[in-house]
Amino acid sequence: MSLTLLQGSYIIAGLLFILALAGLSKHESAKAGNTYGIIGMGIALVITVLGAVIGIDAVNNASDRPGTGLPALGLILVAVLIGAAIGVWRAKKVEMTGMPELIAMLHSFVGLAAVLVGYNSYLSATGADDKVHLAEVFIGVFIGAVTFTGSIIAYLKLSARMKSAPLMLPAHNYVNLGAIVAFLGLTVWFVLAPSIWLLIVMTVIALALGLHLVASIGGGDMPVVVSMLNSYSGWAAAAAGFMLNNDLLIITGALVGSSGAYLSYIMCTAMNRSFISVIAGGFGSDGAITGETKDYGEHREITAEGAAELLEDAKSVIITPGYGMAVAQAQYPVAELTTKLRAKGVHVRFGIHPVAGRLPGHMNVLLAEAKVPYDIVLEMDEINDDFDKTDVVLVIGANDTVNPAALDDPSSPIAGMPVLKVWDARNVIVFKRSMNAGYAGVQNPLFFKDNAQMLFGDAKVRVEDIIQALSRS
Ligand code: TAP
Repeated sequence: MSLTLLQGSYIIAGLLFILALAGLSKHESAKAGNTYGIIGMGIALVITVLGAVIGIDAVNNASDRPGTGLPALGLILVAVLIGAAIGVWRAKKVEMTGMPELIAMLHSFVGLAAVLVGYNSYLSATGADDKVHLAEVFIGVFIGAVTFTGSIIAYLKLSARMKSAPLMLPAHNYVNLGAIVAFLGLTVWFVLAPSIWLLIVMTVIALALGLHLVASIGGGDMPVVVSMLNSYSGWAAAAAGFMLNNDLLIITGALVGSSGAYLSYIMCTAMNRSFISVIAGGFGSDGAITGETKDYGEHREITAEGAAELLEDAKSVIITPGYGMAVAQAQYPVAELTTKLRAKGVHVRFGIHPVAGRLPGHMNVLLAEAKVPYDIVLEMDEINDDFDKTDVVLVIGANDTVNPAALDDPSSPIAGMPVLKVWDARNVIVFKRSMNAGYAGVQNPLFFKDNAQMLFGDAKVRVEDIIQALSRS
């Protein structure tokens, strides 16, 4: 294998990654985008391993570097096989609802890898006076360590192994600021007088900072944290690319880092949150939000037959799905109900909140899986003004994303977050199993409104009951 082949393959893999991102931006092209990404990563893996084994250094334009030889190739293949087997096993086993925590765990691996590459790169470096390289190592280990512990806390919060309420230490903003200032000072010191102890001290500070940053963020803002850690993991990979002198890793890391940062920004805008506040671990928040339990009166209940009657008489219906639809796997009967109602001439559309479920695009993926036509699936902004012209809204396992307290109650933890204004419709039917709160842990006054009725039970079973009732009538 020649140097030209290696460099050419890197360019092709880089282009495939860009095509993958472009493809993933639309439903219709998402599958093709995924395929481009897989092919690009396949090329990158094979060429990088072969380059190392044969001894080609693309960065320094040299093909006379001593290769690691066949024994190393054997070791790498064993590691790849073990890693791939664990990855395939986990990916097959994971439920759609468990994806966010799996992703958070995978981000933590990228962070840990950057830390290990940094230590290896420092300990095996020959030129200890290469100041640029020393800075790369220090910054790379810092980003990696923050990503590592931040992702572990995100994993614990998303899998409900840890409370989702924000940790509000006294002067928490100063704790974060102090850690950043210490990092900057230590970086200068390390570059001027490198020492393993400085690297260790900074790693401990960065590990604590990652932990504190994510622990300070409340449940309602976790979606932004997931995409933010995605971005951090990209920058950690790019930093590892600098340390390893690997152009492709730098390109890939920068693509993930910048697209993750942009996604975080879009989500912050959608949720009316300050981007700076969220990335700085709740910076500017005084923790005064309470979300106290209030007495909203009595709720009303409806049966599946009653819901079917309302739907029989409806001319327009909007379905707003949420996390509960994913838990119940109700998307298939929901798609069937949609087909049935449309066949009767009812105008049916879906209203999707940007953070419904537990992943960006979670509801869109489920609805696409159940073959709901894309053109009736609308974003919150596209449909929010239409609720007052709607006969029936079916809230299927959604809670925080349809909570009027976000607009009416400044003391609510989700205050300021735009929500689907389902209560403007003539009738609202809420599918859930109990009166329990949603992810953010706050009561929902929607359930007590005069035009809202609760349809208790598993969402899948209840939608199937409605389909049966409609078939009988
Ligand atoms: P949630 O507020 O999480 O509420 C889901 C509701 O579904 C619960 O109140 C639950 O009530 C109900 N439910 C659960 N299993 C059900 C089943 N089998 N059948 C019927 N109902 C069921 O949902 P949402 O409105 O989608 O809001 C999403 C929340 O997650 C937001 O706070 C968001 O910030 C957060 N979050 C989002 C993301 C992303 S990126 N989307 C990531 C992390 C966190 P019962 O227990 O009473 O049934």
